[in-house]
Amino acid sequence: MSPEPDTDTEADTGTGTTGTGTGTGTAAAPLLRIVGLVKRFGGFRALDGLSFHLKPGEILGLVGPNGSGKTTCINVISGLYRPDGGQILLDGRAIGGLPSHRLVHLGINRTFQVPKPFMTLTVRENVEVAAAYGRRRPGKTDIEALLHSLELDSHAKRPASELNSVQQKMLDLARALATAPRILLVDELAAGLNPAELERVGERLKALAAQNIALVVVEHLMGFIDQVTDRVIVCNAGRGIFAGPLSAAIRDRQVVEVFLGAEDDGGAA
Ligand SMILES: Nc1ncnc2c1ncn2[C@@H]1O[C@H](COP(=O)(O)OP(=O)(O)O)[C@@H](O)[C@H]1O
Ligand SMILES: [Mg+2]
Repeated sequence: MSPEPDTDTEADTGTGTTGTGTGTGTAAAPLLRIVGLVKRFGGFRALDGLSFHLKPGEILGLVGPNGSGKTTCINVISGLYRPDGGQILLDGRAIGGLPSHRLVHLGINRTFQVPKPFMTLTVRENVEVAAAYGRRRPGKTDIEALLHSLELDSHAKRPASELNSVQQKMLDLARALATAPRILLVDELAAGLNPAELERVGERLKALAAQNIALVVVEHLMGFIDQVTDRVIVCNAGRGIFAGPLSAAIRDRQVVEVFLGAEDDGGAA
């Protein structure tokens, strides 16, 4: 119910404003700042000037109708695609266009809307590969603890191909976490989870934020967004049309129009 406390919301143009603290109650400077991000596919702008910032320990929700650019945003920040315009700043350093492996070593990793584990490797081997690729020194990742925290320990010796889709999502999260990210981008992790699983995954994401990891959570399930996020960015046609708490977003006329004009997923209004 609190009014939007942050001055650099939609007008987050990266012109020098540092956030004055949002839902996390911290006054930390942004870890990541996205300024006017553009991504084109042919003549189509999937991202058309998207701007937002992310602070350490913050969980930022990225919501919006299908096709509004959420996954593209994650793909560009994580280095899968090069941006066609705008800036991505990590601790003030421009990182747009760096390849994924460099970004992983700088502490940025993501999960996939459709997970792509190495199907013939076991669950444990998948996480071991990720840990070896990541930014911790070899042997520093407690893989057993990680598997346990995501309820994958009893599946550790099974090939990834034998996991169901929810377990594959948890494995995808385990692989991302094994690289010790400072920023974790999560793409529709909650889809397909039952209410108890949703609750547990939500608590897990909040525990990561409590360890000062910054998270961007893309999700359609507004209950989940409400459970985990401090703040949301609402995207439409590759732009941010709202920045602030979800409670305020659902009362914003433009946001309501975008959601009602698109699909009704039962939670946006
Ligand atoms: N690799 C691609 N090639 C062409 N068009 C793409 C590609 N990736 C995404 N798009 C288009 O960009 C728009 C945004 O897609 P996406 O970021 O996946 O949306 P969201 O995740 O919000 O549903 C859509 O119109 C989609 O078809
Ligand atoms: Mg998507």
